[in-house]
Amino acid sequence: MADATIVVQDVRKRFGDVVALDGVSFEVEAGTVLGLLGPNGAGKTTAVRILTTILPISEGRASVLGIDVAKHPESVRLRIGLAGQYAAVDEVLTGRENLRLVGRLCHLPKDESGARAEELLKRFGLSDAGDRSLKTYSGGMRRRLDLAAALVHRPPILFLDEPTTGLDPGSRLDLWAIISELVADGTTVLLTTQYLEEADRLADQIVVIDHGQVIAEGTATELKGRLGSTHIEVNVPLAQIDRARGALASVGEVALADTANGVAIQVADSGPAVIAAVRALDAAGIDVEALAVREPTLDDVFLELTGHSAEAEDAEVPA
Ligand SMILES: Nc1ncnc2c1ncn2[C@@H]1O[C@H](COP(=O)(O)OP(=O)(O)OP(=O)(O)O)[C@@H](O)[C@H]1O
Ligand SMILES: [Mg+2]
Repeated sequence: MADATIVVQDVRKRFGDVVALDGVSFEVEAGTVLGLLGPNGAGKTTAVRILTTILPISEGRASVLGIDVAKHPESVRLRIGLAGQYAAVDEVLTGRENLRLVGRLCHLPKDESGARAEELLKRFGLSDAGDRSLKTYSGGMRRRLDLAAALVHRPPILFLDEPTTGLDPGSRLDLWAIISELVADGTTVLLTTQYLEEADRLADQIVVIDHGQVIAEGTATELKGRLGSTHIEVNVPLAQIDRARGALASVGEVALADTANGVAIQVADSGPAVIAAVRALDAAGIDVEALAVREPTLDDVFLELTGHSAEAEDAEVPA
């Protein structure tokens, strides 16, 4: 890739006997968002820690803006921001004090760190809460402050480790909007997530990892297309199941299966297929009792790719 901003080449990371990353390679193009998608323990945080110079690599190479993370960590650190799964902000200090402190740590002059703190508090809707200690902040406010702290020195590259895990849907939407704005302003983002929906919404490219290995990559549309994607389930009277199956067979389905009360199909693109399914059932005179559309979850993706569920990480999976 000509203008790759983050390059990861065959990176391995061991913690004693645990192989957290087992030969991972990917690249992130300048000005784009890469979503690193995987279940608990996949190696997402380890990858972020290596790229942000917190952890040394065991084997392989990684660079940010062409700078080798192992050879020139200080130089890398000046150019990146990190908002972590475990927030790095101080509980006792106020929001404003936290941002000023980060400014000072980034060697901004005192008045400039003050001005930058005000600007960021405003941008993240935290001006009113600026004088409150972080202990009083909600989860969503903390995430916003943590992200603001990562932006104090205006880094061109941003690492976000599970930026919205644990947030309510409203706060998640707020954060997604903020991240999209940053990208529109030219920031390159690597974010980790356990949610396909989040990667779908924010990422230009998705790298799926499991047990420290890349198991799939592509755009959200490519991955979903490849994975059979949306399920449409229709409940019909028992006597009409055969006719319903016949009607749905015309909808360009990936797979068709009988369920307890009707028929389920998997389709590659949800919107048009749902409409086509409804029309076909109606034209065939089927008495539809219920119709449900289910988008693929990360678990569907994992099941499809690995044959095991994303949730069953603690259980022994037979080889
Ligand atoms: N400091 C460490 N010492 C030993 N093992 C570690 C250490 N850090 C991570 N691991 C192990 O490495 C593997 C990958 O962990 P990592 O935290 O990168 O996963 P993750 O994808 O971020 O998971 P989560 O979604 O739970 O945050 C896990 O098996 C974990 O137990
Ligand atoms: Mg993690």
